[in-house]
Amino acid sequence: MTNPLKQIHLAAHFPGVNNTTVWSDPAAGSHIEFSSFAHFARTAERAKFDFLFLAEGLRLREQGGKIYDLDVVGRPDTFTVLAALAAVTDRLGLTGTINSTFNEPYEVARQFASLDHLSGGRAAWNVVTSWDAFTGENFRRGGFLPQDERYSRAKEFLATAHELFDSWRGDEILADQATGTFLSDAKAGAFVHQGQQFDIHGRFNAPRSPQGRPVIFQAGDSEEGREFAASSADAIFSRYATLKEGQAFYTDVKGRLAKYGRRPDQLLILPAATVVLGDTDEEAADLAREVRRQQVSGATAIKHLEFVWNRDLSAYDPEGPLPDIDPVVSEDHISRGRAQVRMYRDPIAIAREWRELAAANNWSIRELVINTGNRQTFVGSPATVARTINDFVQADASDGFILVPHITPGGLDGFADKVVPLLQEQGVFRADYEGATLRDHLGLAHPDAATTAERAAS
Ligand SMILES: Cc1cc2nc3c(=O)[nH]c(=O)nc-3n(C[C@H](O)[C@H](O)[C@H](O)COP(=O)(O)O)c2cc1C
Repeated sequence: MTNPLKQIHLAAHFPGVNNTTVWSDPAAGSHIEFSSFAHFARTAERAKFDFLFLAEGLRLREQGGKIYDLDVVGRPDTFTVLAALAAVTDRLGLTGTINSTFNEPYEVARQFASLDHLSGGRAAWNVVTSWDAFTGENFRRGGFLPQDERYSRAKEFLATAHELFDSWRGDEILADQATGTFLSDAKAGAFVHQGQQFDIHGRFNAPRSPQGRPVIFQAGDSEEGREFAASSADAIFSRYATLKEGQAFYTDVKGRLAKYGRRPDQLLILPAATVVLGDTDEEAADLAREVRRQQVSGATAIKHLEFVWNRDLSAYDPEGPLPDIDPVVSEDHISRGRAQVRMYRDPIAIAREWRELAAANNWSIRELVINTGNRQTFVGSPATVARTINDFVQADASDGFILVPHITPGGLDGFADKVVPLLQEQGVFRADYEGATLRDHLGLAHPDAATTAERAAS
């Protein structure tokens, strides 16, 4: 009898530029040494995870000229890290976030094709448009494109990259490639692309890679972002990890697939999730409260409030009451274009609500931020966490989760040792890898599968 339950997909997010990391824990290690990446990747592979995930942040975060007090110390380049990890793992997928706003298709396509070759078919590309005006200042374009143009560039960028991946596709070319030496076909790698964003032609010099094309992820959340995912992505990295929000997002995005001629199983929904484990549910709840306190320093709490108030609040005491002045409502924002801005569409109303909450609970600024901000997604004993994750996936709140630990590099160890075996016992998570490529792990067809089937039919 076939298992009627959905299989869960799990991935490991190496924490990047954020204030998730709990530095005060004695186990917190380097975010830049290779040994941290290697430990993290090996743990994910030992636990039979689908892939490791790297987000992208191309500039240290700052506000009012000051670097965030709890951010990690910088972040090495994605391709360099993933290529090094390919050498110390065998099966684990390797997903890199690379934006389409400040890069060029030839370069990015070549990097992903190379990673797919070197890893034996384990590469994935999370195509983001990047929300950060600030990031743009690092690049010659400056600033960032308006949202609709960012997505039209992203679409054309991805289509162009596909033309490049597919430029080594003919039977004779593949036969040459299989022998690995002499290139007899004059068409190999030839491409011409003329469009609004890119006008390029030439020869692509990375041969067809094991997966044909890397697996494509998408992360934007707007109308345009969701349509882009529905038309072109194999998976979405989302922020909706609660049951209700997850189900709403899942229904919305999967509902968009039919008009592109796609089936619901051709786009996986994988929210970011955090986990706090304890021997008992009570112990885990205590630990989760402690983790949250450590994630929100006084300085972090003031920064958080400044997003809403849109003004310098550095003179306020984080252990004191909320400001009684109102937020400044302006297009010109203190955070200079970052995503949080759009989360707070009506700052005056939010400030009023927060003041009321703080007054009712006798909360300081810091306590308000601790109690209203990001909570841990899964908190409990291994049995509780395994059951909740499975319940969420079976209830179509997601197809799995991308776990973001608060400790690097050992933050996945407990999950690998205690939660994964329970999911395996329930028959909802693989006991071992069944295929070699990331497409195999995710149940996604090879882009040439249709062609092969068509050939067989004819
Ligand atoms: C869950 C999630 C993760 C994201 N991760 C990144 C990232 O790592 N790097 C980046 O530059 N942008 C990231 N983005 C931003 C997107 O690329 C996009 O620019 C932004 O969300 C604005 O597009 P939207 O209006 O469609 O959401 C992320 C967005 C979401 C929702």
